[in-house]
Amino acid sequence: RNLFFIIIIFCGGLFSFSQNYKAKVDSIMSLMTLQEKIGQTVMYGGSWDQTGPIVGADNGKYIREGNMGAMLNAMSVKGTLDLQKVAIEETRLGIPLLFGYDVIHGHRTIFPINLGLSASWDLKMIEESSRIAAEEASAEGIHWTFAPMVDISREPRWGRISEGAGEDVFLANKIAKAYVKGFQGDDLSKPNTILACAKHYVAYGAAQAGRDYHTVNMGEGELRNVYLPPFKAAVDAGVETFMSAFNELNGVPTSGNKFTLRDILRDEWNFEGFVVSDYTSINELIPHGFAKDSIDAARIGMNAGVDMDMMGHLYRKFLKNLVEEGKVSEAYINDACRRILLAKYKLGLFDDPYRYINEERENTTKYKPEFLAKAREIAAASSVLLQNNNEALPLSTNTKKIAFIGPLVKDEYDIIGNWAAKGDRQGKALSVFEGISEYLNSDQILYAKGCDILKDDESGFGEAISISKQADAIVLVMGEGHHMSGEAASRTNLKIPGIQPKLIKKIREANPNKKIILVLMNGRPLNLSDEVNLVDAILEIWFPGTMGGAATADLLFGEVNPSGKLTVTFPRNVGQVPIYYNMKNTGRPIPDNNPKEDYKSNYIDVPNSPLFVFGHGLSYTTFKYSDFKLSSQNLYTNGTIQASVTVTNTGNYDGHEIVQLYIHDKVGSVTRPVKELKGFEKIFLKQGESKIVTFEISVEDLKFYNSEMKFGVEPGEFEIAIAPSSDFRFKHSFNLLD
Ligand code: GLC
Repeated sequence: RNLFFIIIIFCGGLFSFSQNYKAKVDSIMSLMTLQEKIGQTVMYGGSWDQTGPIVGADNGKYIREGNMGAMLNAMSVKGTLDLQKVAIEETRLGIPLLFGYDVIHGHRTIFPINLGLSASWDLKMIEESSRIAAEEASAEGIHWTFAPMVDISREPRWGRISEGAGEDVFLANKIAKAYVKGFQGDDLSKPNTILACAKHYVAYGAAQAGRDYHTVNMGEGELRNVYLPPFKAAVDAGVETFMSAFNELNGVPTSGNKFTLRDILRDEWNFEGFVVSDYTSINELIPHGFAKDSIDAARIGMNAGVDMDMMGHLYRKFLKNLVEEGKVSEAYINDACRRILLAKYKLGLFDDPYRYINEERENTTKYKPEFLAKAREIAAASSVLLQNNNEALPLSTNTKKIAFIGPLVKDEYDIIGNWAAKGDRQGKALSVFEGISEYLNSDQILYAKGCDILKDDESGFGEAISISKQADAIVLVMGEGHHMSGEAASRTNLKIPGIQPKLIKKIREANPNKKIILVLMNGRPLNLSDEVNLVDAILEIWFPGTMGGAATADLLFGEVNPSGKLTVTFPRNVGQVPIYYNMKNTGRPIPDNNPKEDYKSNYIDVPNSPLFVFGHGLSYTTFKYSDFKLSSQNLYTNGTIQASVTVTNTGNYDGHEIVQLYIHDKVGSVTRPVKELKGFEKIFLKQGESKIVTFEISVEDLKFYNSEMKFGVEPGEFEIAIAPSSDFRFKHSFNLLD
């Protein structure tokens, strides 16, 4: 009987706590004028960073009028204290401001760009990186990050592929949850946790021709099976905010799209957080040709379900009249204001608006040694060894002379990548040169820049070729500038930029039999079709962050064994794009036994296969997969089956291996991808060690949206495989029975 009462009291307590939240917010709202409620839906920018066009805002005036609820690009204890004091002491109701910033892959300590982080396939590391980012950002007064970016993309021309988790839904869903957990922690009222924001809702990564902000068209099935799931995963992980996107979707801009913002996000998913627009994305309904003027754009944005206007001036200026004219329901304003106030409540800002303002914490948090050590570990784990012919890697530290050549050898500016928040580009980051200097004596090192990333100036070639001839091994550190990926940075050409490829060719010609290692810094899949035949090894380090130089050296000299695997396909050339592992079979697939057969779905100039597949990544050791087992040939809709394989480290290094489970639904009421990742496990094996890796499969893993948009499974035969990458042929299958 006592237990019963304890349960009642406990539930009552819980109920009152959450109701208490809402009751308190409602009591504040009852005091607010319509314009003050609208004020909460307004966000402008501070001067600590610039992440979009200048819009000309008078922040102090808007805050004092109660016409601003949030700020982006405002940070530091002093800066946020000054701004918060204006909101608390100089406005009628003293409602605290919310400070947001793009803390995407680190705030001060910068981790690899997110495409790199995803290549670690290490959910714990990804969560740790965002936990550290939240520690550093919150110590500088930031309450909210505009991350994770969860846009699926199969478009290497699109610069923002660098910000996401690649092409696969299953992996992107898991990674989205890891970021949300890392940023938001387990208690938002703690001053070291920050609101996360799932962006850019939705399908921004499917921009036509990979051109940023470009048109998106797709069937609802593709939307629901590929582009929506990571957003739903973020909701399931408790993400507190969403950001609507710039792109239109099937003719309706996503920042004015009632179907995605209300029908799906609110009615289907019951999302209770708030939606912020992207930077003036409501204003952009006008150039989209979807709103006739600013007032119309404000009306559409609020009615469609965008709760907060980022930098747009629209909600502040026009919503009150629109409500008075009956063109926007006041209920929508109330909902938006309530969601925003609730978020502030959850952060504890009503209890203490200065909770994130602590000078001692600001001075002692950034760049903590343990943060830098973690960044070094994660940068190494995010790197992918694409090729290692003649066991060119790892290099010996006894090598007499190693030539380091390329515009990114001594780089400390691009190495932290795009969207690097307050990461230092003036020398805090360790260059590859500094990293390798920890392993070699100066007399072992030869260096030449050789050329720039983009400039067409070959005057440095001579020196580079000359030192390459003196060396026993050659390490080229080349790639893109950080500004060549990220926002508004799409490329039509996927080659290593500038005359770098030419220099690679000349160095090979001058050293026909010497070990040449290419270390790549880039924010997207590149066309390496020429380089694979010119160099022995290719190490993809993406933009590896503050400790990237040290991590690269750890990999080059074998202190760390590479373990990363691609989460995006590397095409042979841009003409193959879009190309991704889980495509459809078509009615005329190329037969395995006769690749040259005519009238098949192929090109006449290149094979259908990419240069490097999804899931590809080498190690300094080798792994053998054997003894595949299925617990049953039949899966019942209410049951599970287990698939297992033995993985053995058959090489000369201890190492991690990312074991992947793939399934192929052979027949469906809509065509199904030729294979889909449905599980993965990162294991560590000492030399000679074996482990049995087991995956459990249930119908939950097999569900998809069919042509009637029903989410479910269909009985039939499913092929199954456990493999080191997506490059395999199925040999086993099971039947799903009713
Ligand atoms: C930018 C980006 C978005 C970012 C926002 C605020 O335009 O699209 O990812 O969070 O504006 O900086």
